[in-house]
Amino acid sequence: MDQTDRIERQGKMTEEVRKTLIKAQQGELDGVETYKMLAEVVHNEDDVKVFKQLAADEGRHAAVFKNYTGEVLKPDKTQAFAVAALYSLLGKKILYPLIAKFEYAAIPGYEELMKDYPEVESVKDDEKRHGDTLNSLLENGQFNDRPKLPYVCAAIALFLFIRLTKRIR
Ligand SMILES: [Fe+2]
Repeated sequence: MDQTDRIERQGKMTEEVRKTLIKAQQGELDGVETYKMLAEVVHNEDDVKVFKQLAADEGRHAAVFKNYTGEVLKPDKTQAFAVAALYSLLGKKILYPLIAKFEYAAIPGYEELMKDYPEVESVKDDEKRHGDTLNSLLENGQFNDRPKLPYVCAAIALFLFIRLTKRIR
């Protein structure tokens, strides 16, 4: 998309769509921080490699949305800290499928955006792939990261609370 197209499209952008695109951009940026932090805290080396790659993908996604919004946003690390804490509380067996669910949950919204913002299609495809990748990491076995059961309920509540205002993708 060249500069003229972009400006024209931004001109036609409704306030509601603009908010959706900015929210998506912020979610992707926060996703970068989340996967970077997971790469630092997880115990399995294969998982470290995967999370570094996912962080890079999320960075590319943020750039796709930035190209549409023209906004420079700052990443918020709250979600990253929460997810890293949940990793130690819940272990990967519970946490990874939970993150995969939120990756998949981003798909319908992106399918809607794709109609006017075609570059979002590759982002949508990545989110599906990310969900599949996270689930496939469980097939490695090695569930040494045992959840500390007394904290599990509180941790899930915290995670859901954060999810009300933020998105992982
Ligand atoms: Fe993403």
